Amino acid sequence: MPKDPRKIIIDTDPGQDDAIAILLALASPEDIEVLGITTVAGNVPLDLTSKNARIVCELAGRPDVPVFAGCDAPLVRRLVTAEHVHGKSGLDGPDLPDPEMPLQDQHGVDFIIETLRREPAGTVTLCPLGPLTNIATAFDRAPDILERVQEIVLMGGAYFEVGNITPTAEFNIYVDPEAAEIVLKSGAKITMMPLDVTHKALVTRARNEAFRALGTPVGKAVAEMTDFFERFDREKYGSDGAPLHDPTVIAWLLAPRLFTGRFINVEVETQSKLTLGMTVADWWRVTDRAPNAMFIGDLDAERFFSILTERLARL
Ligand code: BDR
Ligand code: CA
Repeated sequence: MPKDPRKIIIDTDPGQDDAIAILLALASPEDIEVLGITTVAGNVPLDLTSKNARIVCELAGRPDVPVFAGCDAPLVRRLVTAEHVHGKSGLDGPDLPDPEMPLQDQHGVDFIIETLRREPAGTVTLCPLGPLTNIATAFDRAPDILERVQEIVLMGGAYFEVGNITPTAEFNIYVDPEAAEIVLKSGAKITMMPLDVTHKALVTRARNEAFRALGTPVGKAVAEMTDFFERFDREKYGSDGAPLHDPTVIAWLLAPRLFTGRFINVEVETQSKLTLGMTVADWWRVTDRAPNAMFIGDLDAERFFSILTERLARL
């Protein structure tokens, strides 16, 4: 018997890799039902992430997906953005039209709370692809929703790869470490896609050409997005193409067997100036701290890209 699609809320700061994650989810309606998209300030300020999320829905031919603007700043810190990676618009690369679909009136955090209260307990998965401000705010305001969350699958953190925005911190966690701490201590079921795995999901020239060869507006836009942000990672890491961070979250929902990791304790540094936002992951299980997250370390990159390309071809 075919299973019902898994219901998710995508919480995001697009971002080219966020955009590709959204496209992957929208291309997979038999597996995933996107109940809504909530936006957060991160890669670029909130007005731009909210605009970009709608651009991506329209690119996918899905203007019916409701998009809600969430928090415009981290819980207690000033916003740090990443235009140096994603460009001024956050979605530099392709030339895409401004969205016509409206932004919803409801605040993103209220949508998260209301949806978790409305849907049967244990049936909604949260997929955060940016700083964890909206999710932490929702948990803080409405603790009753916590036990109703099916799972949180998020992109953030690093252990072996250590950091990308500072020598010791990954961007999403660094921007709002207090929010990350709330989420990691929430007791919810958590799966994390840290840099350790996303740095193995590299868009090589051949993989980029496979997107372009789809010959569709989506294929062209995705190729142009990765063309744009790979210049940054190529210069920085000398790697063979850019890491496709956020789509790993959606790929985990589609094909968890592509990934391997460990259920371990992960905590966030919120005090030190030097290591703020570091995820201290007990990969080697050298403490007696209780495990709280499935921390992914590896993936089958060939299969990941073949599933991604095959799904994008459907849009
Ligand atoms: C994360 O930060 C953002 O720049 C990307 O969209 C991804 O979510 C990678 O560190
Ligand atoms: Ca992101």
